[in-house]
Amino acid sequence: MPAGGGRHRGILITFEGIEGSGKSTQCARLAKRLREEGHRVVETREPGGTPFAERIRRLLLDYPTPGASAEPIEPECEAYLILACRSQHVARTIQPALREGSVVLCDRFSDSTLAYQGYARGLGLQVLHRLNRFTTRGLTPDLTLLLDVPVTIGLARRRHPERVQNRLDREARRFHERVRRGFLDLAERHPRRIKVLDGTRDPDSIAAEVDMLVRRFLEKRHKLKVRKS
Ligand code: TMP
Repeated sequence: MPAGGGRHRGILITFEGIEGSGKSTQCARLAKRLREEGHRVVETREPGGTPFAERIRRLLLDYPTPGASAEPIEPECEAYLILACRSQHVARTIQPALREGSVVLCDRFSDSTLAYQGYARGLGLQVLHRLNRFTTRGLTPDLTLLLDVPVTIGLARRRHPERVQNRLDREARRFHERVRRGFLDLAERHPRRIKVLDGTRDPDSIAAEVDMLVRRFLEKRHKLKVRKS
């Protein structure tokens, strides 16, 4: 059930993309603009978004700290940890914010599980769809902004010498290619919800397009509400 379509008053907007696509920057910029316009905004991210889910995030991304375990993590184990984070996050952060009428901006959500664990790790999409539904209790984003960049550009931004690489950043290039194709395939399947933006442009023009898409979405939603009332 889309966040704004059922019993909730709020709206769930998600940002998706490969590593280095610029989604976190755009998410923060949109939050600032919406707040300036008087919207109540909750900014959050996945994996994470609650203190406990942030602890699972650290486990999952396993930054290369001295003495860190080199034990490989099975794809199913990775998927379950991500879903564990999501159930905590939806129940304790997202749903309460939606009930209060907030605009929730989430840096990654269920489409990332389909792209990373489904397309790139090769776990079944059907099973992940079902697990996503179970985990979110049927909550789907109202609008998803997919920032698309070629893998070479995304990884070059991410592999900056001063930046610490997480476990997923260090995956092979072909893994990230599968993630990118996965996201683009999802966008083709859900063109009304997922909007693809060219993430190679300068941040200001991307922000302008994000603004336009969100404004258009909010206007449509407002018209629908007026018609119903
Ligand atoms: P990021 O939030 O800094 O982009 O990093 C989070 C990492 O977690 C990123 O490599 C993608 C990964 N991830 C998944 O593999 N599946 C998921 O469902 C989510 C939300 C994230």
